[in-house]
Amino acid sequence: MQILIVGQGGREHALAWKAAQSPMVTQVYVAPGNAGTASEHKIKNIAIDENDIPTLVHFARDQKIDMTIIGPEQPLMNGISDQFTAHQLRCLGPCQKAAYLEGSKIMAKAFMRRHQIPTAPHHSFDQLSPAIQHLQNASPPYVIKADGLAAGKGVVVTHSQEEAIQAATRMLAQRQFGDAGRQIVVEDYLDGEELSAIVLVDGEHFCPLAFSQDHKARDEHDQGPNTGGMGAYSPVSHIAHDVLEHIGTHIIRPTIAGLIADQIDYRGFLYIGLMIDAHGKARVLEYNCRLGDPEAQPILMRLRSDFIELCAATFDQSLQKISLEWDTQSALGVVWAAQGYPGDYERGHTIVLPTDYAEYEKIFLAGATLDKGTIISNGGRVLCATALGDNIAIAQQRAYALGDKIQFNRAYYRRDIGWRALQAPT
Ligand code: AMP
Ligand code: GLY
Repeated sequence: MQILIVGQGGREHALAWKAAQSPMVTQVYVAPGNAGTASEHKIKNIAIDENDIPTLVHFARDQKIDMTIIGPEQPLMNGISDQFTAHQLRCLGPCQKAAYLEGSKIMAKAFMRRHQIPTAPHHSFDQLSPAIQHLQNASPPYVIKADGLAAGKGVVVTHSQEEAIQAATRMLAQRQFGDAGRQIVVEDYLDGEELSAIVLVDGEHFCPLAFSQDHKARDEHDQGPNTGGMGAYSPVSHIAHDVLEHIGTHIIRPTIAGLIADQIDYRGFLYIGLMIDAHGKARVLEYNCRLGDPEAQPILMRLRSDFIELCAATFDQSLQKISLEWDTQSALGVVWAAQGYPGDYERGHTIVLPTDYAEYEKIFLAGATLDKGTIISNGGRVLCATALGDNIAIAQQRAYALGDKIQFNRAYYRRDIGWRALQAPT
């Protein structure tokens, strides 16, 4: 089989790497890929932009690609899946209508209300003065979200009313995110611990992947601005089994049932971002129409089953027959970012990776390109140093030890990835 992966981040490096391990796969193409996918066995980068849908369709037809897997949300929102399907090409990723679950926070909230799925109470605004009035009467912390896609930067959580009003003003009046901020959501702050529940959906059935936990804040102790994710690990053994079961019964199943009831033909990965409060009650923070980044890196490190077989079951609508095999080891990934991220960040730094690896460690590259054989940083999140270990403590120690072998001046990373699992009573 020939597989095409669309995207250029660490998630896509992990997807391509995992796809290439399948004995059914002869060649994996990545459009456009990065320095990591450029250097892997059976994997080849193709210089096509991830949003250039006509050229991607053309390539897939020309090369007789058997299956295309879409990494990021933007091409899905732009209807890549619909276009591939219209050309009788197998494309793993939800259609445009279904991708709105991520592409519009207001539509996602309406979906959750319709199907009684627990989430934070909210108000939406398309005018600045009622939004300001609302914020002036609300109590901190404040949560302000642009309705549309904003590359993981459209959410502001702050204790300062002034900052909250500034964020609303930037989004609504100054169009910081263009049309994505034409409407905003102001919602109640939820306290607790975050969890990522990712499932693969085939329109009718679903197959849950292992639970994972991301670290959204840039700085240690979960301080600083929100990012796309600074590190992740799986499994989440410190979270009680009955809490995870409750999530399955009261959030995942009603979400799938809601999609079917609304006649949304959802096929692809569905990421449910959750907040679990001190009583173990979970509420949905967001839906994403794709795998998480960096969650995909530790999750795919732990997946023992054939990834392509799993993906193929989506097209046959036979996901209910799949039972996934997971490594009993834990996996933990530490993101190395450029100085300045998530704001304007530095580029152009040389990166030297280790030449030898143990079987339990892997560096997934993201914002890094190859220039005459040299790896050069060109993105906000540059790589994810990931390792397996018998428990989170060992995986963490190995991921940081792997990092110690990387030469990348002025890299920025958190030193506390996995802290919740490590602090939890055993
Ligand atoms: P979202 O894109 O909606 O998941 O928001 C990005 C991040 O902002 C989440 O992963 C949380 O860390 C934080 N966040 C979003 N909504 C809330 C909320 N209602 N209460 C507390 N933190 C939130
Ligand atoms: N790591 C969070 C996300 O992929 O949205």
